[in-house]
Amino acid sequence: MKRKKIIAGNWKMNNNLTDAKFLANKIFSDSPQNEIIKIIFPPVIYLHEFSSIVKSADFKIGAQNCSQFKNGAYTGELSAEMIASVGAEYCLVGHSERRNYFFETSKQLSEKIKRCLENNLIPIFCVGEKLDERESNTQFSVVENQLTEVLMNIKIHEILPILIAYEPVWAIGTGETATPKQVQEMHAHIRTVLKNITSETISLNMPILYGGSCNPQNAKEIFACKDVDGGLIGGASLNAQDFISIINSF
Ligand code: PGA
Repeated sequence: MKRKKIIAGNWKMNNNLTDAKFLANKIFSDSPQNEIIKIIFPPVIYLHEFSSIVKSADFKIGAQNCSQFKNGAYTGELSAEMIASVGAEYCLVGHSERRNYFFETSKQLSEKIKRCLENNLIPIFCVGEKLDERESNTQFSVVENQLTEVLMNIKIHEILPILIAYEPVWAIGTGETATPKQVQEMHAHIRTVLKNITSETISLNMPILYGGSCNPQNAKEIFACKDVDGGLIGGASLNAQDFISIINSF
């Protein structure tokens, strides 16, 4: 089976509704129609409105986060069921900003992935080491632990829809990108870990995206790496031209 190619734009907490619709329409109208799966992660409050715009575009939409709980008295939270009900098909889980600023734990992330799978939302599970972990050469064990701690709580036959994003924290929003060699090494390592905790079939078929200061200048070289199946793009996805140019780098 050939792995899917995916480009996802994580808008984070940017743009009011007017600006967000303007950006989305520009991206949707100028992007190529092709086999690449293209996803936008706008602020969740826009998902309902965006679901009608994306119908005529070659794009999917997703949420940047969801609650680990099914439903109930959790003021301010948004359930996977709600997110799916407004037309989203994907959900980011465990982005480093969620881990660092909102102290999300592996246990919570396992629950979030389960809620996504129960509601047919495809989770994009984010992993990646911090700068001090890279500098002390512990990046491989850090990422292995992040994967193992979360995925061991998911039944093996339910794991296949999950996508992985490798995002070194030191590269996110810093303008410093991992080199193609560093990216390939880590993506190959992730496949080995996946093989050990799931199966060879899953490890070979699971798309693994790279994220962290990906831009039109460096995307082509990164996407050319054997174990890279696409990108999770932050800052550059807020500029239609840059984002489309990254899509065209494949
Ligand atoms: P960046 O963000 O492209 O701005 O580095 C990537 C991400 O946080 O997903």
